[in-house]
Amino acid sequence: MSDTIKKAIFPAAGLGTRFLPATKASPKEMLPIVDKPMIQYGVEEAISCNIKEIVIVTGKHKRTIEDHFDYAFELEEKLKKSGKKKLIEEINRLSRIKIAYIRQGYALGLGHAISCAEPFVNNEPFAVILSDDIIDPKDTLLKDMVHLYRKLKAPILALERVPAADTHRYGVIDGKSEGGGVFRINGLVEKPAPGEAPSNLAIIGRYILTPDIFTILSRSKPGRGGEIQLTDAIAELLRKRPVYGYLFRGRRYDAGDKLGYLKATVDFALKNPELSAAFRSYIVGVSRRLKK
Ligand code: G1P
Repeated sequence: MSDTIKKAIFPAAGLGTRFLPATKASPKEMLPIVDKPMIQYGVEEAISCNIKEIVIVTGKHKRTIEDHFDYAFELEEKLKKSGKKKLIEEINRLSRIKIAYIRQGYALGLGHAISCAEPFVNNEPFAVILSDDIIDPKDTLLKDMVHLYRKLKAPILALERVPAADTHRYGVIDGKSEGGGVFRINGLVEKPAPGEAPSNLAIIGRYILTPDIFTILSRSKPGRGGEIQLTDAIAELLRKRPVYGYLFRGRRYDAGDKLGYLKATVDFALKNPELSAAFRSYIVGVSRRLKK
């Protein structure tokens, strides 16, 4: 089996209920953070790790994701007339990468979404990117995991320490530190009930997985929330091979949640060269107003 990660799966078939009514007919993945849809940050992160083949698992009302990553001929013609060269390059930059789309007919859970992508993965290790977990582009989480895979040749899950009160929102691991941010995982629980979390080490939306997960997923039964859970399948995989966690110490935004989405928007706007000065003075004004 190759020790290079060349492919990434993006599950994007979820219903986006936390953002209703905005997501009634539009994909959550297309909600913009400043001027790019959420999913584009994840796709750019994959490209920065030299991952050139992407599979997006979509569903109903998700067609605009395909259009977004497609070549925009008409727009290009129009922008050419107004001399907007830089913008043309920006909108068509990602249309050169290979993206395959597969539909998950039923939203049966994250584990099921991953299993839908099996035909594209062949017998290779692959990355999974949950696009509503946005990683600050200056952090190198996935890149570090791809490098670590070369050494460990085993599945690796990104971890973050979360407050005890938040563990119920995540898959949580039980593990032993091996130094350098690496944990050998002994057990995993999806969204533990209060008092049942084995630690405060939560799984965040970056995984390196090996193709043996597909056999397990193909016979997985629904778990937490009646959904086929990736966490449960990894817990089963653990009986057959070592699985590791890698502790992320950078900045992650849970943009699948309204507050996290707003935080990402504010921070990315502050870093945006076109907006930063004007937005900063607006924010200073808001903060003054709030202190009154
Ligand atoms: C999914 C996973 C969970 C993980 C989380 C990270 O949950 O099932 O184990 O901790 O992503 O964002 P979701 O947020 O889709 O409910």
